Amino acid sequence: MYTQSFINADASSAAAPAQVSPIESPERMAAFDRAIDADGRIEPQDWMPQAYRKTLIRQISQHAHSEIVGMLPEGNWISRAPSLKRKAILLAKVQDEAGHGLYLYSAAETLGVSRDSLLDALHTGRAKYSSIFNYPTLTWADVGVIGWLVDGAAIMNQIPLCRCSYGPYARAMIRVCKEESFHQRQGYEALLVMMKEGTDAQKAMVQDAVNRWWWKCLAMFGPPDADSPNSAQGMRWGIKRISNDDLRQKFVDATIPQAEVLGVTVPDPDLKWNADRGHYDFGAIDWDEFWATVNGNGPCNRERLATRVKAWDEGQWVREAAVAHANKNKREEKAA
Ligand code: 3HC
Repeated sequence: MYTQSFINADASSAAAPAQVSPIESPERMAAFDRAIDADGRIEPQDWMPQAYRKTLIRQISQHAHSEIVGMLPEGNWISRAPSLKRKAILLAKVQDEAGHGLYLYSAAETLGVSRDSLLDALHTGRAKYSSIFNYPTLTWADVGVIGWLVDGAAIMNQIPLCRCSYGPYARAMIRVCKEESFHQRQGYEALLVMMKEGTDAQKAMVQDAVNRWWWKCLAMFGPPDADSPNSAQGMRWGIKRISNDDLRQKFVDATIPQAEVLGVTVPDPDLKWNADRGHYDFGAIDWDEFWATVNGNGPCNRERLATRVKAWDEGQWVREAAVAHANKNKREEKAA
């Protein structure tokens, strides 16, 4: 488990694994295009264009960072969960997110980049991670709403990634999606209990949390298609299967009936069913606020990064001990 995270030799972000020639020739390019056109899978040992490799490293590493930063807003509530049952569920969920980060860093490593370099980019503020994890979790209802809406949005975005053209990413996403599904359900169930059996104050707490998270979740799908620089190429390569706007629409359409069962409203005066389109219409997203958050100026960006850096620094002795242990085993194996 540890060995992969201790590869220190830093392949540059566009470097190919040693056994695959990075040289682009018309023949190689044509074979790659044929595989993509046939909806085939590209595996680490296959030749791939550098731009495809670079795009995957970008997306998979941002995704991995999102998973591990995503542990923080909810981790904050483990010691304050209202019952043993809720605490056990929350612990399991937060641990799942750590596991997702590990699968995804491993998938990125198959592209010839080291985990240490990816983490360095995160810790020095050069790497992006999902905007959604830069907002505070003010009450227990936020934990339920994160499960229902944030994990619900994540699943909507991630199910199509199970069919991504890059094999290791697609396979990692299958397990991630199964676990995200549990995360979404536990959040919805926690909210249902508060809404159906709770006090007026608890119901108000749920509504307040929905009001604060709704728009952030819609923005989570990324900029509108017309302003998304990576979408066209990502779709062409079979990395992305459904566009940002289409996923956002699917999320709204799936979530509004759930809100009705729950007994909450979403803070959007423009929301209405459009029978002609067969979809909900919804209001305008505040993209200035989204970009400010993505660019490091959201309410919790500095706190989140500082927490990750502290965890990394405090784990230094564990990494050193694991390397020393692995070296000792190697020496003993050689001597035997
Ligand atoms: N937060 C931060 N940055 C975002 C973003 C968001 N919500 N949405 C888009 N961006 C960034 C993109 O990364 C890109 O930045 P870059 O070009 O500097 O790398 C820029 O905004 C333009 O966006 P594009 O639409 O052109 O970028 P993509 O084609 O890569 O699409 C994406 C963005 C839809 C997020 C896509 O990368 C994707 O599907 N990624 C995999 C899934 C993922 O990372 N999800 C994050 C949440 S994980 C999670 O929620 C964990 C769970 O446990 C709850």
